[in-house]
Amino acid sequence: MLFRAADSLWGTSLKEVFAVDTSSHMNDISREMLTHSDRKHLKNVLFQRQFLPMSNTPKYDVVVSSFSLLELPSVGARLETVLNLWTKTEDFLVLIEFGTMAGFQVINEARDFLLWGMKRRSAEPSLKGHVVSPCPHDKRCPMMSRVDDYKVCNFSATYTTYPQKPIAKKEFYSYVILRKGRRPADESHWPRIVRPVLLRHKHAICRMCTPGGNLSEVIFTQHKHGKATFRCAKQSKWGDRLPVTIQDVTNDGETNSEEASQSHEGDTETTSTHSTDQVQNSETK
Ligand SMILES: C[S@@+](CC[C@H](N)C(=O)[O-])C[C@H]1O[C@@H](n2cnc3c(N)ncnc32)[C@H](O)[C@@H]1O
Repeated sequence: MLFRAADSLWGTSLKEVFAVDTSSHMNDISREMLTHSDRKHLKNVLFQRQFLPMSNTPKYDVVVSSFSLLELPSVGARLETVLNLWTKTEDFLVLIEFGTMAGFQVINEARDFLLWGMKRRSAEPSLKGHVVSPCPHDKRCPMMSRVDDYKVCNFSATYTTYPQKPIAKKEFYSYVILRKGRRPADESHWPRIVRPVLLRHKHAICRMCTPGGNLSEVIFTQHKHGKATFRCAKQSKWGDRLPVTIQDVTNDGETNSEEASQSHEGDTETTSTHSTDQVQNSETK
Protein backbone atom coordinates (compact mmCIF):
# COMPACT_ATOMS: atom_id res chain seq x y z
CA MET A 1 0.00 0.00 0.00
CA LEU A 2 2.84 2.34 0.87
CA PHE A 3 4.46 1.78 -2.50
CA ARG A 4 1.23 2.70 -4.21
CA ALA A 5 0.85 5.85 -2.13
CA ALA A 6 4.46 6.88 -2.84
CA ASP A 7 4.00 6.22 -6.54
CA SER A 8 0.78 8.26 -6.66
CA LEU A 9 2.49 11.18 -4.96
CA TRP A 10 5.94 11.20 -6.48
CA GLY A 11 5.69 9.07 -9.63
CA THR A 12 8.87 8.99 -11.67
CA SER A 13 10.74 11.29 -9.29
CA LEU A 14 10.85 8.37 -6.86
CA LYS A 15 14.48 7.23 -7.00
CA GLU A 16 14.55 4.41 -4.47
CA VAL A 17 12.14 2.57 -2.20
CA PHE A 18 13.90 0.55 0.50
CA ALA A 19 11.39 -1.78 2.16
CA VAL A 20 12.10 -3.86 5.28
CA ASP A 21 9.93 -6.71 6.55
CA THR A 22 11.18 -9.71 8.53
CA SER A 23 8.64 -11.88 6.74
CA SER A 24 9.98 -13.13 3.40
CA HIS A 25 6.40 -14.13 2.52
CA MET A 26 5.27 -10.54 3.03
CA ASN A 27 8.11 -9.31 0.80
CA ASP A 28 7.19 -11.88 -1.88
CA ILE A 29 3.51 -10.94 -1.77
CA SER A 30 4.18 -7.23 -2.11
CA ARG A 31 6.51 -7.82 -5.08
CA GLU A 32 3.94 -10.17 -6.64
CA MET A 33 1.18 -7.59 -6.17
CA LEU A 34 3.29 -5.03 -7.98
CA THR A 35 3.83 -7.45 -10.87
CA HIS A 36 0.08 -7.77 -11.31
CA SER A 37 -0.70 -4.09 -10.91
CA ASP A 38 -0.44 -1.01 -13.08
CA ARG A 39 2.64 0.01 -11.08
CA LYS A 40 5.11 -2.57 -12.38
CA HIS A 41 7.66 0.21 -12.96
CA LEU A 42 8.07 0.44 -9.18
CA LYS A 43 9.94 -2.87 -9.23
CA ASN A 44 12.88 -1.02 -10.78
CA VAL A 45 13.28 1.22 -7.72
CA LEU A 46 12.23 -1.28 -5.05
CA PHE A 47 14.85 -2.86 -2.80
CA GLN A 48 13.64 -5.30 -0.17
CA ARG A 49 15.38 -6.55 2.96
CA GLN A 50 14.37 -8.75 5.88
CA PHE A 51 16.36 -6.77 8.44
CA LEU A 52 16.87 -3.09 9.08
CA PRO A 53 20.56 -2.20 8.59
CA MET A 54 22.14 -0.54 11.63
CA SER A 55 24.31 1.88 9.62
CA ASN A 56 23.40 5.59 9.51
CA THR A 57 23.85 5.78 5.76
CA PRO A 58 22.33 6.10 3.34
CA LYS A 59 19.62 8.41 4.65
CA TYR A 60 16.18 8.67 3.07
CA ASP A 61 14.04 11.75 2.50
CA VAL A 62 10.98 10.04 3.95
CA VAL A 63 11.07 7.09 6.36
CA VAL A 64 7.80 5.34 7.23
CA SER A 65 6.89 2.71 9.80
CA SER A 66 3.31 1.61 9.24
CA PHE A 67 1.49 -0.78 11.54
CA SER A 68 4.76 -2.46 12.59
CA LEU A 69 5.87 -1.03 15.95
CA LEU A 70 3.16 -2.94 17.80
CA GLU A 71 4.60 -6.18 16.41
CA LEU A 72 7.88 -5.62 18.23
CA PRO A 73 8.26 -7.61 21.45
CA SER A 74 9.31 -4.96 23.99
CA VAL A 75 9.65 -1.25 24.72
CA GLY A 76 13.41 -1.60 24.25
CA ALA A 77 13.01 -3.16 20.80
CA ARG A 78 10.56 -0.43 19.78
CA LEU A 79 12.74 2.45 20.95
CA GLU A 80 15.84 0.96 19.36
CA THR A 81 13.96 0.62 16.06
CA VAL A 82 12.53 4.14 16.27
CA LEU A 83 15.99 5.61 16.92
CA ASN A 84 17.43 3.60 14.04
CA LEU A 85 14.68 4.91 11.74
CA TRP A 86 15.30 8.49 12.92
CA THR A 87 19.04 8.23 12.22
CA LYS A 88 18.17 7.07 8.69
CA THR A 89 15.85 10.03 8.16
CA GLU A 90 17.07 12.90 6.02
CA ASP A 91 13.85 14.91 6.31
CA PHE A 92 10.57 13.28 7.47
CA LEU A 93 9.83 10.31 9.75
CA VAL A 94 6.25 9.02 9.66
CA LEU A 95 5.01 6.58 12.31
CA ILE A 96 1.51 5.18 12.01
CA GLU A 97 -0.47 2.57 13.97
CA PHE A 98 -4.10 1.62 14.46
CA GLY A 99 -6.05 4.30 16.31
CA THR A 100 -6.62 2.14 19.37
CA MET A 101 -5.38 2.89 22.87
CA ALA A 102 -2.44 0.50 22.28
CA GLY A 103 -1.62 2.07 18.90
CA PHE A 104 -1.78 5.61 20.27
CA GLN A 105 0.41 4.71 23.25
CA VAL A 106 3.10 3.24 21.01
CA ILE A 107 3.08 6.36 18.82
CA ASN A 108 3.29 8.59 21.87
CA GLU A 109 6.07 6.47 23.36
CA ALA A 110 8.13 6.97 20.19
CA ARG A 111 7.32 10.70 20.07
CA ASP A 112 8.28 11.25 23.72
CA PHE A 113 11.47 9.25 23.32
CA LEU A 114 12.70 11.12 20.24
CA LEU A 115 11.80 14.55 21.66
CA TRP A 116 13.47 13.69 24.97
CA GLY A 117 16.65 12.66 23.11
CA MET A 118 16.66 15.85 21.05
CA LYS A 119 16.38 18.07 24.13
CA ARG A 120 19.43 16.57 25.85
CA ARG A 121 22.43 18.83 25.82
CA SER A 122 24.57 16.03 24.43
CA ALA A 123 22.15 15.37 21.56
CA GLU A 124 23.82 15.13 18.19
CA PRO A 125 22.77 18.07 15.98
CA SER A 126 21.87 15.63 13.20
CA LEU A 127 19.26 14.03 15.49
CA LYS A 128 17.45 17.26 16.34
CA GLY A 129 14.02 17.88 14.91
CA HIS A 130 10.43 18.77 15.68
CA VAL A 131 6.90 17.42 15.36
CA VAL A 132 5.14 18.39 12.14
CA SER A 133 1.82 16.62 12.58
CA PRO A 134 -0.65 16.09 14.17
CA CYS A 135 0.70 18.06 17.15
CA PRO A 136 1.26 21.79 16.55
CA HIS A 137 3.87 21.67 19.36
CA ASP A 138 6.73 19.61 20.84
CA LYS A 139 5.33 19.53 24.38
CA ARG A 140 3.92 16.47 26.15
CA CYS A 141 0.73 15.13 24.58
CA PRO A 142 -2.16 16.67 26.55
CA MET A 143 -4.25 13.55 25.90
CA MET A 144 -1.96 11.27 27.90
CA SER A 145 -3.32 12.51 31.21
CA ARG A 146 -6.99 12.39 30.21
CA VAL A 147 -9.54 9.77 31.20
CA ASP A 148 -12.49 11.11 29.20
CA ASP A 149 -13.38 11.21 25.52
CA TYR A 150 -9.98 12.80 24.79
CA LYS A 151 -7.75 9.97 25.94
CA VAL A 152 -6.73 8.69 22.49
CA CYS A 153 -5.46 10.94 19.73
CA ASN A 154 -6.69 9.32 16.56
CA PHE A 155 -8.15 10.20 13.19
CA SER A 156 -10.26 8.32 10.67
CA ALA A 157 -9.87 7.41 7.04
CA THR A 158 -12.25 5.69 4.65
CA TYR A 159 -11.07 3.25 2.04
CA THR A 160 -12.46 0.74 -0.40
CA THR A 161 -11.70 -2.96 -0.03
CA TYR A 162 -9.56 -4.53 -2.73
CA PRO A 163 -9.54 -6.77 -4.78
CA GLN A 164 -12.83 -8.32 -3.61
CA LYS A 165 -16.15 -6.61 -4.11
CA PRO A 166 -15.48 -2.95 -3.28
CA ILE A 167 -16.93 -2.06 0.10
CA ALA A 168 -16.37 1.31 1.75
CA LYS A 169 -14.77 0.88 5.18
CA LYS A 170 -13.62 3.22 7.90
CA GLU A 171 -10.44 2.83 9.91
CA PHE A 172 -9.03 4.75 12.84
CA TYR A 173 -5.33 5.51 12.99
CA SER A 174 -2.85 7.30 15.25
CA TYR A 175 0.26 8.85 13.81
CA VAL A 176 3.10 11.27 14.26
CA ILE A 177 5.32 12.96 11.69
CA LEU A 178 8.66 14.38 12.80
CA ARG A 179 10.99 16.47 10.71
CA LYS A 180 14.71 17.04 11.04
CA GLY A 181 15.81 20.57 11.96
CA ARG A 182 14.30 23.43 13.90
CA ARG A 183 10.63 24.35 13.84
CA PRO A 184 10.37 27.30 11.39
CA ALA A 185 10.09 30.60 13.27
CA ASP A 186 7.38 31.81 10.89
CA GLU A 187 5.20 28.69 11.22
CA SER A 188 1.50 29.40 11.60
CA HIS A 189 0.14 29.04 15.14
CA TRP A 190 -2.99 27.18 14.19
CA PRO A 191 -4.54 24.53 16.42
CA ARG A 192 -5.44 21.08 15.08
CA ILE A 193 -8.97 19.70 15.32
CA VAL A 194 -8.70 16.40 17.21
CA ARG A 195 -12.33 15.27 17.30
CA PRO A 196 -15.16 15.48 14.76
CA VAL A 197 -16.58 19.00 14.51
CA LEU A 198 -20.02 19.07 16.15
CA LEU A 199 -22.50 21.05 14.07
CA ARG A 200 -25.39 22.40 16.08
CA HIS A 201 -28.08 25.04 15.58
CA LYS A 202 -26.21 28.30 14.94
CA HIS A 203 -22.98 27.03 16.48
CA ALA A 204 -20.12 24.66 15.76
CA ILE A 205 -18.03 23.02 18.46
CA CYS A 206 -14.35 22.41 17.68
CA ARG A 207 -12.16 20.31 19.98
CA MET A 208 -8.55 21.23 19.30
CA CYS A 209 -4.94 20.69 20.30
CA THR A 210 -3.22 24.07 20.52
CA PRO A 211 0.35 25.20 19.82
CA GLY A 212 0.65 25.73 23.59
CA GLY A 213 0.22 21.96 24.08
CA ASN A 214 -3.29 22.15 25.55
CA LEU A 215 -6.69 20.83 24.60
CA SER A 216 -9.31 23.43 23.91
CA GLU A 217 -13.00 23.26 23.14
CA VAL A 218 -14.37 26.31 21.37
CA ILE A 219 -18.01 27.03 20.58
CA PHE A 220 -17.97 29.06 17.38
CA THR A 221 -20.90 31.28 16.55
CA GLN A 222 -21.31 33.94 13.92
CA HIS A 223 -22.23 36.45 16.60
CA LYS A 224 -19.09 35.90 18.68
CA HIS A 225 -16.49 35.12 16.05
CA GLY A 226 -17.71 36.73 12.84
CA LYS A 227 -19.07 35.22 9.64
CA ALA A 228 -15.81 34.08 8.06
CA THR A 229 -14.46 32.29 11.15
CA PHE A 230 -17.82 30.67 11.88
CA ARG A 231 -18.09 29.38 8.32
CA CYS A 232 -14.52 28.14 8.42
CA ALA A 233 -15.14 26.28 11.71
CA LYS A 234 -18.34 24.73 10.33
CA GLN A 235 -16.61 23.45 7.23
CA SER A 236 -13.48 22.17 8.93
CA LYS A 237 -12.98 18.48 9.45
CA TRP A 238 -11.45 16.29 12.12
CA GLY A 239 -7.67 16.40 11.49
CA ASP A 240 -7.63 19.85 9.88
CA ARG A 241 -5.73 22.80 11.27
CA LEU A 242 -8.08 25.66 11.93
CA PRO A 243 -6.71 29.02 10.74
CA VAL A 244 -7.23 30.87 14.00
CA THR A 245 -4.88 31.86 16.78
CA ILE A 246 -5.46 30.71 20.32
CA GLN A 247 -3.46 31.96 23.26
CA ASP A 248 -2.89 29.88 26.36
CA VAL A 249 -3.51 31.39 29.76
CA THR A 250 -2.27 30.26 33.12
CA ASN A 251 -3.96 32.66 35.52
CA ASP A 252 -6.99 30.53 36.41
CA GLY A 253 -5.11 27.42 37.43
CA GLU A 254 -6.65 25.16 34.81
CA THR A 255 -4.14 23.37 32.66
CA ASN A 256 -6.43 23.03 29.68
CA SER A 257 -7.78 26.52 29.59
CA GLU A 258 -7.31 28.78 26.64
CA GLU A 259 -8.33 32.35 26.30
CA ALA A 260 -8.50 35.33 24.02
CA SER A 261 -6.45 35.80 20.99
CA GLN A 262 -4.74 38.23 18.78
CA SER A 263 -4.57 38.65 15.07
CA HIS A 264 -2.09 36.49 13.29
CA GLU A 265 -0.71 37.35 9.90
CA GLY A 266 -2.37 35.18 7.29
CA ASP A 267 -5.09 33.76 9.52
CA THR A 268 -8.60 33.84 8.16
CA GLU A 269 -9.65 35.32 11.44
CA THR A 270 -8.80 35.32 15.09
CA THR A 271 -10.80 33.78 17.84
CA SER A 272 -10.86 33.30 21.55
CA THR A 273 -11.76 30.44 23.70
CA HIS A 274 -12.17 28.78 27.02
CA SER A 275 -13.50 25.33 27.70
CA THR A 276 -16.06 26.79 30.05
CA ASP A 277 -17.19 29.86 28.17
CA GLN A 278 -14.79 32.72 28.61
CA VAL A 279 -15.10 33.15 24.91
CA GLN A 280 -14.16 36.59 23.78
CA ASN A 281 -15.17 38.30 20.67
CA SER A 282 -13.05 38.95 17.65
CA GLU A 283 -13.71 40.63 14.38
CA THR A 284 -13.04 39.54 10.85
CA LYS A 285 -9.85 41.05 9.56
C1 LIG B 1 0.62 -5.42 10.26
S1 LIG B 1 1.93 -5.74 9.16
C2 LIG B 1 2.10 -4.20 8.32
C3 LIG B 1 2.71 -4.36 6.99
C4 LIG B 1 2.96 -3.07 6.20
N1 LIG B 1 3.94 -2.24 6.88
C5 LIG B 1 1.70 -2.29 5.95
O1 LIG B 1 1.57 -1.17 6.43
O2 LIG B 1 0.82 -2.79 5.26
C6 LIG B 1 3.31 -5.79 10.23
C7 LIG B 1 4.56 -6.30 9.57
O3 LIG B 1 5.68 -6.06 10.42
C8 LIG B 1 6.63 -7.07 10.14
N2 LIG B 1 7.64 -7.09 11.21
C9 LIG B 1 7.52 -7.60 12.45
N3 LIG B 1 8.68 -7.44 13.15
C10 LIG B 1 9.53 -6.77 12.33
C11 LIG B 1 10.87 -6.30 12.46
N4 LIG B 1 11.56 -6.48 13.60
N5 LIG B 1 11.45 -5.69 11.42
C12 LIG B 1 10.75 -5.52 10.27
N6 LIG B 1 9.48 -5.93 10.08
C13 LIG B 1 8.87 -6.56 11.10
C14 LIG B 1 5.78 -8.32 10.02
O4 LIG B 1 6.43 -9.33 9.29
C15 LIG B 1 4.54 -7.80 9.29
O5 LIG B 1 4.60 -8.03 7.90
